Amino acid sequence: MREVRATILENRAIADKIYSLTFHIEEEIPIDCGQFCMIGIAGHPLRRPIAICRAEGGRITVCYQVRGEGTRILAEDYKAGETLSVLLPLGNSFPVADGVRKIALVGGGVGIFPLISVLRKYAPEREVYSYMGFRNKAAMCMGYELERGKKLKVATDDGSVGMKGTAVQAFLSDLSENRPDVVFSCGPLPMLRALKKGMEGKDIPVYVSLEERMGCGIGACLVCVCDKKDGTHARVCKDGPIFDLKEIVL
Ligand SMILES: Cc1cc2nc3c(=O)[nH]c(=O)nc-3n(C[C@H](O)[C@H](O)[C@H](O)COP(=O)(O)OP(=O)(O)OC[C@H]3O[C@@H](n4cnc5c(N)ncnc54)[C@H](O)[C@@H]3O)c2cc1C
Ligand code: FES
Repeated sequence: MREVRATILENRAIADKIYSLTFHIEEEIPIDCGQFCMIGIAGHPLRRPIAICRAEGGRITVCYQVRGEGTRILAEDYKAGETLSVLLPLGNSFPVADGVRKIALVGGGVGIFPLISVLRKYAPEREVYSYMGFRNKAAMCMGYELERGKKLKVATDDGSVGMKGTAVQAFLSDLSENRPDVVFSCGPLPMLRALKKGMEGKDIPVYVSLEERMGCGIGACLVCVCDKKDGTHARVCKDGPIFDLKEIVL
């Protein structure tokens, strides 16, 4: 993990309250899919954790939703040419074993962003099936990235694009004819819980990327701790954010 000074190349809206931020760093740092960074925002002592969608050389793209004060400032005040302090890369990555051919991605809302890094890395060499859920058409974004896989099924809450329903419903409705070797998912807690219920007894490994509130992002403050089934705890920033669904309490 490094603390780097990043130069903003672009920071623009790509959907309703969703921004794409591309920055350049001098060093070329290896970044694996599912890892995240912590972005420093002026006037806020705590950095904001954001998944890395794309890393090509020193050019890195993250996408974020404007939620509270920090992301609002990031969207409004940070322009191309300005600099940011960023910690990266952080956390573990989505595990893809050698024998895995078919990967299913189930993403909801801002949970699609870490999954884009999986598509970029694995779609050229394996079969990647994407099931992505959005609130509505206005919230949908990154279609050109999501189409990299063998199949993309979009679901929206109001049916304005794709099927009416959730990413989990889209995935489960395909499962009998399209059984993946592994499932990677990221999204809001109710979505992950629905996925867990739907996968009971299916004997397919499922890994989920968790979104916990974070302080330091490097394993020191214990703000992000989650419960494990064996009674122990894990730090989402350092031991995760990706966990085997069987091992954690949701
Ligand atoms: C590993 C990881 C990856 C993430 N990737 C993305 C992404 O790719 N795109 C995206 O839009 N969002 C992502 N998030 C959520 C994002 O970090 C929060 O939306 C963001 O921190 C909110 O900051 P704020 O200042 O706007 O909100 P505020 O509510 O004002 O933030 C107050 C504090 O709470 C923390 N916080 C608030 N909500 C969250 C949250 N959901 N998760 C973690 N910390 C939170 C903030 O970091 C800050 O310290 C990710 C979270 C984690 C843990
Ligand atoms: S955020 Fe500090 S230990 Fe995870």
